[in-house]
Amino acid sequence: MNIETNKIAGAVLSTLLVVMGLNMMAGIVFAPKKPAIPGFDLPSDEPVAAAAAPAAAADEPIAVRLAKADAARGEKAVGACKACHTFEKGGANKIGPHLYDVYARPKGAVDGFAYSAAMKAKASENWEAAQIDGFLKNPKAYMPGTTMAYAGIGRADTRADIVAYLNKLADAPKPLPTP
Ligand code: HEC
Repeated sequence: MNIETNKIAGAVLSTLLVVMGLNMMAGIVFAPKKPAIPGFDLPSDEPVAAAAAPAAAADEPIAVRLAKADAARGEKAVGACKACHTFEKGGANKIGPHLYDVYARPKGAVDGFAYSAAMKAKASENWEAAQIDGFLKNPKAYMPGTTMAYAGIGRADTRADIVAYLNKLADAPKPLPTP
């Protein structure tokens, strides 16, 4: 290799270095701002955002659900209650009080059954549709301190079916609320 070749190689190398250096500088000066979440920014009040996270739908009012309730479905749904309750006329108390004629009966009114203090404190209220519905949804939330060890029924329509069934368990069923 002669001196000329070395000079040319040196010139090429230093040119490369200058180009790389400029490229880096440009990268620093004109660094693009990347969004935290890739995509387009939408106005915050965009309805899309509201539709993506709907609030938990509230249950329909019990009167509306009762209009389409079915006592026969309710009778099937109370299978889970039979570990603790009887439903027939003259039925015995078990872990829970008998439930014949419970509809519109005052809370905690079966003679000889040892109700919780929480239930006794509500003796001035009756088991109307809305009360039964609320209790069955989540007994412990509806009545803190109740001894009814039952998780509750999440399906609002099933609760309405049960209310319709319980309402029938009477010599003279009382009127149910209408929408
Ligand atoms: C693990 C036992 C158990 C199960 C299961 C259970 N209950 Fe009860 N239930 C009780 C007890 C105990 C009480 C009394 C609660 C108190 O005094 O706080 C009660 C009270 C009630 C009352 C109030 C009665 C009154 O005389 O005031 C109703 C209504 C009722 N239960 C309905 C149901 C229905 C309907 C189901 C099924 C969906 C059910 N329970 C499932 C144990 C149970």
